[in-house]
Amino acid sequence: MKFPPWTTVDEAVKKLSEGAVVAIPTETVYGLAAPVFNPLSLAKIFEVKGRPTFDPLIVHISNFNQIHELAKEIPQTAFQLAKAFWPGPMTLILPKKDSVPDLCTSGLPSVAIRFPSHPTAIAIINKLGIPLAAPSANLFKHISPTTAAHVKEQLGDRDIGGIVDGGPSTVGVESTIISLVGVPTVLRPGAITVEMIEKVIGKIQVSQSTSKPGDAMAAPGQMDVHYSPTVPLYYGIIPSEFSIPQNTVRIAFGKHSPNSKFIKETVNLSESENLLEAAANLYAHMRQLDSPQNKLIIVDPIPLGGIGLALNDRLKRASLKSLKSL
Ligand code: TXA
Ligand code: MG
Repeated sequence: MKFPPWTTVDEAVKKLSEGAVVAIPTETVYGLAAPVFNPLSLAKIFEVKGRPTFDPLIVHISNFNQIHELAKEIPQTAFQLAKAFWPGPMTLILPKKDSVPDLCTSGLPSVAIRFPSHPTAIAIINKLGIPLAAPSANLFKHISPTTAAHVKEQLGDRDIGGIVDGGPSTVGVESTIISLVGVPTVLRPGAITVEMIEKVIGKIQVSQSTSKPGDAMAAPGQMDVHYSPTVPLYYGIIPSEFSIPQNTVRIAFGKHSPNSKFIKETVNLSESENLLEAAANLYAHMRQLDSPQNKLIIVDPIPLGGIGLALNDRLKRASLKSLKSL
């Protein structure tokens, strides 16, 4: 570590205004932030994360009016959803204004906007007075950080202005992304569930994970290989002919059956089967078990209701497609 990475709200605002990127807490996951209208700072985000520039960034606002700085031709449904779920874990895709740099949107004519509820994120954006583009503060394709310590592990020795510690993220999975360009569609499930959205704007489409290698622009952000630990993770029914290797570890959900002798460690997402608790724990548990002496991480089935859809989405993306490759 070059120097202690921690920084305060006021220091973070100063560093952001000087062009540095800064990791900030949000209620979903930590973000790596830069002022949206500064393309050089945006470029630093992609460089620090090792993220390809065809994967666009979410822009964070701290008051409702800022939506007009970023988006145009805003449909009524956007205002209805904003009123219902902002500040909170929901991102809206809207037609972008010309003032939003192409680097932020990867050349797309739309922009992703979110008003987070974390008071520290709101304070930083308010003091800076400029919306902050921020992807999750992890290396590309790695697990999103839900604590400041997670950010330090992955980005602490990179060229960042610092990390603001706002405590553990209470939601724990990334925001629900809703495209309002064309037919309203949930592009990424999250804590704002399909049921909650449909109560406000009526029927909505839900996109399936569609990405193919080399076809990332078709559905930005929907790349399959995402959120992965280094140790192979398998989410699915284990075929009976498969013999579990030694040093297998397990992420359990609910009151689980006893371990086989090869499972040397089990962590539980929620013994009481509370899906919100499970979401808050998911990434931290994945990191905890992601150590080189472990051979395989297996995960108990999680119900699809509510935020369970988001948990299944992230686990399927992180999972080996087959145990044969092990
Ligand atoms: O909860 C969250 O959304 C967190 C916190 C930090 O706010 N952010 C986050 O950012 O998860 P990121 O970059 O890891 O994921 C944002 C996703 C990307 O996969 C990107 O492809 C998609 O949003 N996205 C951004 N702009 C888009 C656009 N114009 N159209 C479609 N998808 C877009
Ligand atoms: Mg991410």
